[in-house]
Amino acid sequence: MSNTSQNTPGNTPQIPPKVGIDRITFATPNCYLSMKDLAIARGIDPNKFTIGIGQSQQAVPPNHQDIVTLGAQAALPLMPYIDSNRLKMVIVGTESGVDASKSSALYIHKLLNLSAWVRCVEVKEACYGGTAALMMARDYVLVHPGAQVLVIAADIARYGVGTPGEVTQGAGAVAMLVSENPRVLQINDDSVVKSAEIQDFWRPVYQSTALARGKFSTEQYIRMFCDVWQRYSAENACNFNDFEAICFHLPYTKMGLKALRAGLEENSGAPHSCDGAPTTDDTRERLLARYQDSTQYSRRIGNIYTGSLYLGLISLLDYDYFRNSCDSSESACDLSSATHSNESPTRPSPLLPGQKIGLFSYGSGAVAEFFSATLVPGWRSALFSNQHIKTLNNRTQLTVSQYEEMFNSAAPYSPQDFVSSQKNRSGARFVLDSIKSQERNYRSI
Ligand code: CAA
Repeated sequence: MSNTSQNTPGNTPQIPPKVGIDRITFATPNCYLSMKDLAIARGIDPNKFTIGIGQSQQAVPPNHQDIVTLGAQAALPLMPYIDSNRLKMVIVGTESGVDASKSSALYIHKLLNLSAWVRCVEVKEACYGGTAALMMARDYVLVHPGAQVLVIAADIARYGVGTPGEVTQGAGAVAMLVSENPRVLQINDDSVVKSAEIQDFWRPVYQSTALARGKFSTEQYIRMFCDVWQRYSAENACNFNDFEAICFHLPYTKMGLKALRAGLEENSGAPHSCDGAPTTDDTRERLLARYQDSTQYSRRIGNIYTGSLYLGLISLLDYDYFRNSCDSSESACDLSSATHSNESPTRPSPLLPGQKIGLFSYGSGAVAEFFSATLVPGWRSALFSNQHIKTLNNRTQLTVSQYEEMFNSAAPYSPQDFVSSQKNRSGARFVLDSIKSQERNYRSI
């Protein structure tokens, strides 16, 4: 599908519809762990976690939550905007699937009481699955203008108690409604995507925790970013100066920064530098400042795999909203609740319609994609910014031993029956009640 106008047989120029993200929001568990507490418990300098890795808090899911309940919870605020005659697909991107056969989209479809006349599927390619779903949705709507597609990217990142990856765990889901004439962002037809079979991170079907070659995975992430960025900038005749912001997949907030810095170190001979046109000092400052905005939520939630890039996008838009549009009487607008919000030397100017945002998606294994999206007029009024910050500020802090107990009590990857805990259910609208005879039982509460 091309963005250029095409002539119909009658020679009337046909302009392709604008398609993109009409609404976007997220859900995360109502419990979290402080990364300082975790560092102390593991005998590690807290600065390693908060500065070296760049994580302050980590979302911890009670055992009545999984990708189905989180995905349904994320999509709930979109329900008033879903037209049952227009909704044609529900696509879930996840690498924390609860069944090797049945799509989690079907459980979510039932919990949300959606129309039967839709296609429900789940897609998988590590953290890239959310982008695969979004691109499928965009292409579907381009071919079927008027249709809506619900895209959900939901994951629980689990590495294990005491593992090097423990500090990069997290949980949550992002829900996006994709349609023509979107109210937030138009997705441009300029993607560059690369695939390469790499053994950097994987999760065998019989276990709930991932396996990672940690350092190797970070090198692959940076290399894939440089590869897709170089090709993207050549194919689209553009450079970093053309972008107002770049959002990254965020396994932890330092990761995207490493890739951004590698990209900005063009022609400097740095080990991971991407060759390209010179970047101005203004661009460098702007991209680094906007990067800080885009990492605020991930810093408090952790890795949500397929949803991480889109959580970064929400964070970028919400922090622009808090600075420029929020009614100061609302406590949600108090930026002091954002840890490390003063890290950036530059206060970004307000975002404007027509500005381009770059998005870098990386899924281990590995697939990487760089594409852009353009802000549409009036996008701020379509955001859920105040709800987002309230969700984060209303969570319950756990001790390390409470976290460990919760981690070890997760629904098992085995045939045994399971009944979930009644604790920590406040704010949860959907729960996994039990698994009986290997069948999962969900309900609304
Ligand atoms: N104060 C400040 N900084 C400190 C410090 C201190 N006291 N001590 C150490 N640091 C810094 C280190 O210098 C290092 O910084 P740089 O990376 O800038 O050099 C940083 O803290 C991390 O230190 P280590 O490299 O020693 O950390 P580690 O060996 O414990 O492992 C990790 C880090 C590899 C990310 C590990 O957490 C891990 O395996 N995570 C899971 C895999 C992962 O997230 N990979 C990311 C790419 S793959 C991907 O993107 C897909 C996905 O979602 C999983």
